[in-house]
Amino acid sequence: MEVRLQEAKDSIRDVIDFPKTGIVFKDITTMLKDDKHLATLVDTLYNQYKDKGITKVVGLESRGFILGTVLAYRLGAGFVPVRKPGKLPSPTFSEKYSLEYGEDEIFIHQDALDSDDVVLLHDDLLATGGTAKASIDLLSRFNLKNVFVNFLIELDFLKGRDKLATQYEVDSVFHF
Ligand code: PRP
Ligand code: ADE
Ligand code: MG
Repeated sequence: MEVRLQEAKDSIRDVIDFPKTGIVFKDITTMLKDDKHLATLVDTLYNQYKDKGITKVVGLESRGFILGTVLAYRLGAGFVPVRKPGKLPSPTFSEKYSLEYGEDEIFIHQDALDSDDVVLLHDDLLATGGTAKASIDLLSRFNLKNVFVNFLIELDFLKGRDKLATQYEVDSVFHF
């Protein structure tokens, strides 16, 4: 891995037993607060996806909003939020799911995407894959041309990638 990326990876903080006993929480705030690391991440992701014809970045609430919007701007794409319950005001599609430390439901506006969109689905972290699988299921309602799936961090030992079982290209910047 490139030195700049390795330094960014090393700045991610492990918080033991958050939010529940037994969870080692990957805290990205220690990476994002550093201007050089932030620029490295955005540049890396921009270079990876700039030639894919992305028309919309779909970001998952809430940590997927942080780089999702910046990336949309850099790629010249639009931004679409996938949100938690009770937040989106117009008609939605929804999916229930479980994640490493709980259960939840996510929503997307029914008019957020069109079948000719090429989507980059972005979140900060892939753990058990519950959140990402539900998001891919949400996107299946739109008959999209193509979808790319991206995470900053993938916790390989939880095998979330297997749960996604998607034909789409899935990539993570950092693996633990
Ligand atoms: C975290 C993380 C991912 C998800 C991954 O989000 O940001 O979205 O868990 O877990 P999974 O692969 O086991 O589903 P969280 O729901 O804690 O909320 P936040 O992004 O609003 O902090
Ligand atoms: N979301 C799910 N599992 C997580 C973890 N271990 N660290 C940070 N965010 C998470
Ligand atoms: Mg999240």
